[in-house]
Amino acid sequence: MVDKTRRKPLIAGNWKMNGSADMARELVDALLGHLPIGSVEIMVIPPFPYLAQIRSRIAGNQLLLGAQNVSMHAGGAFTGEVSAGMLADVGVAGVLVGHSERRELCGEDDAQVAAKFEAVRRAGLKPVLCIGETLQQRDAGMAESRVGEQLDAVLERCGIEAFAGAAIAYEPVWAIGTGRVASASQAQQIHSFVRTRLANHDATIAGLVRILYGGSMKPENASSLLACPDIDGGLIGGASLNAGHFLEIASAAARA
Ligand code: 13P
Repeated sequence: MVDKTRRKPLIAGNWKMNGSADMARELVDALLGHLPIGSVEIMVIPPFPYLAQIRSRIAGNQLLLGAQNVSMHAGGAFTGEVSAGMLADVGVAGVLVGHSERRELCGEDDAQVAAKFEAVRRAGLKPVLCIGETLQQRDAGMAESRVGEQLDAVLERCGIEAFAGAAIAYEPVWAIGTGRVASASQAQQIHSFVRTRLANHDATIAGLVRILYGGSMKPENASSLLACPDIDGGLIGGASLNAGHFLEIASAAARA
């Protein structure tokens, strides 16, 4: 498999539905004061209302801006939805698609996630495709097959070329916000499975795509996860709301 050093680590902080204008300002300023951290790319993913505010604070800096969700449609009568073009307009660089909370709480299925992935690509933004199995699926020995299905839905709709410049986040649902973390070997096994599945289509793209781990990643466990050959960064929830913890994880990525 391709040398890990060809891929810059990416540490992305998904704030989920947390924060306020004041918190956004303080957190972003605290991060900006410590950048750059080696060659690590750092992305903050706040709720929609804070995107424009943060964009004006990070202008000219190395912090990347991400969005938590997007419509699969380009525009029109879709009240409450936000298009990929609008996100591009306010300076967003990357967009989460298929986060497990959206799959579970909002009923997004694999086909809708694939359509969102395509919409993000069309707008020239980086999709961050979230995949992962539930505890029930893991216990039934179906972790790889579920993750494979989620990946195949996007491969079938968009093709392997669409993964050039995209990122994938493996987030075992049972490890999200639970304090339970996948062991480094459990995570590496799925990351390697994902990369191999992509390599069956195109080994070069598979070697370059960044696969992030998400699910209770914290300063205490980041180093062992990030040392794995196919783990290229993290999609961090809870720990990204604390600038010090988030920066510690980014430093662990710089050392990995
Ligand atoms: P936690 O880091 O809080 O487990 O959240 C992970 C996640 O869902 C990030 O998208």
